[in-house]
Amino acid sequence: MVHAPPSDTPWWALRYEELAGVDPALLGVSDHDAEAEFVERLAGFGAGARLLDVGCGLGRQAGALSQRGHNVSGVDLSPRVLRLARERWNRLFPGERGPNWMPGDMRWLPNSGVYDGVLLLGGSFGLFASDADHQAVLAAAAQQVRPGGSLVMQTPNPYWWAAKAGTQYVAPGSWADGVEVVQNVRFDAVAGRVDERTICFVGGRRVEPPVQSLRAFTPAELVALVRGAGFREVEVSGTEGWTVPEEPLPVDATESVWLWVSARS
Ligand SMILES: C[S@@+](CC[C@H](N)C(=O)[O-])C[C@H]1O[C@@H](n2cnc3c(N)ncnc32)[C@H](O)[C@@H]1O
Repeated sequence: MVHAPPSDTPWWALRYEELAGVDPALLGVSDHDAEAEFVERLAGFGAGARLLDVGCGLGRQAGALSQRGHNVSGVDLSPRVLRLARERWNRLFPGERGPNWMPGDMRWLPNSGVYDGVLLLGGSFGLFASDADHQAVLAAAAQQVRPGGSLVMQTPNPYWWAAKAGTQYVAPGSWADGVEVVQNVRFDAVAGRVDERTICFVGGRRVEPPVQSLRAFTPAELVALVRGAGFREVEVSGTEGWTVPEEPLPVDATESVWLWVSARS
């Protein structure tokens, strides 16, 4: 099974920019305020925590956490996505000081050791073809947090996707105004990956960004990976469907779309 387009540039460096070029709303539509509140609760962040949102995209959660009084930095590979994040913030909260937006590759972040929390949310973990890269991401995260600081991750639940993969039509206005989307999701049980083909139709134009191929780790794999990076007190919880939970929920193989991981440095 080929998980990447035949190009030297990996899919993860192309797909999100292309989707953002069609309509930034295609980078995410879920409830970011509820996510921010849940992240706070899961990690027990106090007021004014210093947070690093890795693979921050449009800054949905970084922005919401900043609004809740935290001192947030968002790092993303794509300068174009970061520009959109900055524009989105300025449009929503003109004149307010928002997150600090920083370009960078999540595998090679400069060591800082100052953050109270490092976040990998909404499918930012699992992008790479090799699990050595996923280990590098967690090793880099471990270098960012202060002793006693937290890691919070949100990753797709492979058991749910194994059962629910398929094709759906998304009407204009549902994800983005004026954009029709056909989404085909396939679960590769051998590789443990969720492969998502997305075809957008906008004003008669067809746009098909590279297939997203996310490594979907089982809870046991996540615990081993996160512990291997030096974190402790690793907990994995689930969701009921797509909804952001108010409290950590048990992982339910067929109900939990997402896995939430929390750990301490
Ligand atoms: C699935 S999106 C998630 C965005 C955001 N966390 C959210 O939930 O809305 C993944 C993001 O990771 C970024 N990304 C891809 N490869 C990266 C890398 N090597 N280092 C840092 N960011 C990367 C993409 O540009 C994209 O914005």
